[in-house]
This record gives sequence, structure tokens and C-alpha cells, in this order.
Amino acid sequence: MTLTSLVDRAISVLRSNDTGVFTKPGPHQYPHQWNWDSALIALGLSHFDLPRAQMEIRALLSGQWQDGMLPHVVYHHAPSDYFPPAVFWQIESSPHAPGVPTSGITQPPLLATVIRKIDSRLPMPDFVHEVYPALLSWHRWLHTSRDADSSGLVCILHPWESGTDDSPRWLHLLAAIRLEVLLEFQRGDTKYVPAIERPHQAEYERFIYLIDVFRKLHYVPAELLIHSPFLVQDILFNAILFRADEDLHALAVSLDQPTDEIDGWLSRMRLNFNARFWDEGVGLYYDYDVRSGETIRVNTASTFLPLFAGLPSERQSQRLVEEHLLNPGEYAPGGEVHHWVTTTARAEPAWEARRYWRGPVWIIMNWFLIEGLQRYGYDDLAETIRQDTLGLIEAGGFREYYDACDGAGCGSADFSWSAALALELSESTARMGNGS
Ligand code: GLC
Repeated sequence: MTLTSLVDRAISVLRSNDTGVFTKPGPHQYPHQWNWDSALIALGLSHFDLPRAQMEIRALLSGQWQDGMLPHVVYHHAPSDYFPPAVFWQIESSPHAPGVPTSGITQPPLLATVIRKIDSRLPMPDFVHEVYPALLSWHRWLHTSRDADSSGLVCILHPWESGTDDSPRWLHLLAAIRLEVLLEFQRGDTKYVPAIERPHQAEYERFIYLIDVFRKLHYVPAELLIHSPFLVQDILFNAILFRADEDLHALAVSLDQPTDEIDGWLSRMRLNFNARFWDEGVGLYYDYDVRSGETIRVNTASTFLPLFAGLPSERQSQRLVEEHLLNPGEYAPGGEVHHWVTTTARAEPAWEARRYWRGPVWIIMNWFLIEGLQRYGYDDLAETIRQDTLGLIEAGGFREYYDACDGAGCGSADFSWSAALALELSESTARMGNGS
């Protein structure tokens, strides 16, 4: 496949997953609108159809809750065989629920970053003006409803909020959750994808159990902070939020809006991020379990997300890259691993070549990493990873994730964000002047 046809095929994947209202992340496995998928899909669409990109964002924002929460899934009344279905969430028990069926949790806040990226290439002041209040209220909700210890760092309450659903970072936390009720349910995620590529049953039961806890608490944010058995400060989520706050700030300036509130969020996060997450002994960022007050000492590619946000010092970035990213025992190709970059360090006992977030290469993680490396001047390494990423897609198609050993495509086929990011990463698009 040539690069030109890669671009054409990426466009056709995005077109074929377009329902006319929103774009499905994957044709069968993910039939509704997912939050951070949509942001990336809009970024991809902006390369060839800006009005459609804007429509994608409007569709996502139509699911915003009245208190500002932007849910992780908007169902848009589309019937499907997806589990959990919209009714399972019982969001109507919250006074803040919107008129559209949605889930009751959120996802990493990439949207402001994507909107700023698009706006910097194809200025769209009217659109920015239109969506700015919704972005601001989502960020405000995150900084107020999810700041459990007034540190400026926000919490996630469910592994699905991390976007890296069954990452080994969550394993021992999930195992410690005692299931007080055993809900009866039929998983839908192994219908189209082999079970070996999906989360284990024990984790999945806890995913569903947590939803039951939240719906019994009517999604009242303060109650969730007190009672959720899962309460974590996630490096990835916080790094993305910091970057998104910076981008929101830039949008505010472009609209001549006040920035004091955003300045406050940025300075508290800047003050506490490294103190909370950086481990000087090993030279890695680790997540933090607020419930137990303990650091989660599991080495996954989320440790590189602060690079995307510009949060590490030069020395910290050097340690991340030289001691870990370039180490074949962890992330660099070597031995049985032939591709950049496994989502979990190869040395972690929970590593599995083809299981979801346990080891495979995800295009989104490579994109974060490439952007982060460029930000810190590692241009050659960023270029190596960019080419390897495009090579994986060329050989295996637009898959949800890839086996880092043999490059085999796994999970959903025709996966929208892999197509969107192929457009973002491809040289021909960069040459069109859109590659910033
Ligand atoms: C999986 C991923 C999540 C993504 C969703 C839809 O659940 O873990 O990050 O948003 O699929 O693609």
C-alpha cells in the first residue's frame, strides 16, 4: 500500500463509520459515540471535511450534562447490541442528565487540544466562539467535581475513564474491590473480537459493578468521591487535562475571554504534578491510588504522557527517554518485540502480547509519544516511531491495536482513530501544511 492510498483508505474508513450524526469508533464493536475517540475523529475529518469535523464535535457536546460533565459515551438513541446499553446507566436518576442517552462517567479531556489544533491550521473563530462555553464548563466540572484532595489533580472513578480500560495499572485495585452484589449480565465485547484480546472476566465484573455503585449514588459527584471504591489520580488523564487547559487558555485569549480561572488550574497542576507522580528513584511517573494513599508502581506507557503536556523538566525527560523508552527490556524493540511502543513495559508480569491494554501497540499512545518527543527535541526518535506506526497500519490495516511482536492487527477492524491519526501522521498530510 502506498502512502497516498493509505490516506485514501483512512478517509474511506472515517466515511464508512459515519452514521450521519456521529462517527462510530469501530463498525461493530463500538456502535455509539465515544468522547476522546470523537475528538481524534474530528481531527482526522478536519483534514478533508471541516464542516463534518465540526458536526462531530457538536454531536458529542449534545450529550453534555447540565453540570458540565462530558460523558464517555453518547448513545444518540441508536439501537445496537452493545453492552452496557444506554438504559443500564440509569442516568435519569441524576438531575443533571441531558435529554440524550449517555453513560454516567467521563473520559480523558482531549477536545480542547484538538479544537485548538484545528483552529491553528484552519481558523474557525465562529465555531470556537460557539463551543468555548461547553469546553470551559467541562474543564470547570473536572477541576471542581473531581479534585478529591484540593491538589488541582483530578481523579478518575472507573478504569473506563482512563481510556486505557484494562491497563495493569488498575489490576490490584480492581482485585481489592469486594463485589457486594453479583449482577447478572451478558458481555457483548467478545462477540466480534476474540476473548484473548479483551479484558479478563474478573476485571470486567468490576467494571460493571462500579457502574452499579454510581447509579445507586445517582451520580452525585460529592457522593462518588466519598464512596467510589476506585479513586485514582491517573497520570495520563491529568497530563491530558493540563495540556487541554493550556489549549483552552489559548482559545480564551483568542476570544478575548477572561483567563484567571484557567490560570489558577494551570498553576495548581504545575505545582503538584511532579511532586505527586514523579518517582526520582526509578525515573518514571506512577499513578496514585487516592483511596489507599499509595503509589501504583506499575510501569506503563502512560508514564510518557507528561511529555505531551510539557510537564517534565529536561532532566526528567532525559531519564524517561534514555532509561525507559530506549530500554528493550521495557519499551524499545528488542528480543521478541519488533515495534514501538508497547502500552505496558515488557518487564511487567501482567504483560500480554495481544490483550487490549496489556501490551499491544495503540496508535493513540504512539501519537502522544511522537508529539511529546518532538516537544523535547527528540526529533529523530519521533520520526522513527512515526514511520514504524505508519508501517504497522500499512501492513495490518486500521486496527484498534497491534501485537508489538509480529505487528498483527488486533481488536476492532476499520478503527476510526487509527484512520484519523494515520491522516495526522502521514507525510503527505504534513506536506499540505497541516502537520503542526
Ligand atoms: C475502548 C478503549 C477506549 C475507547 C473505546 C472506543 O474501550 O479502551 O479508550 O474510547 O474503546 O474506541
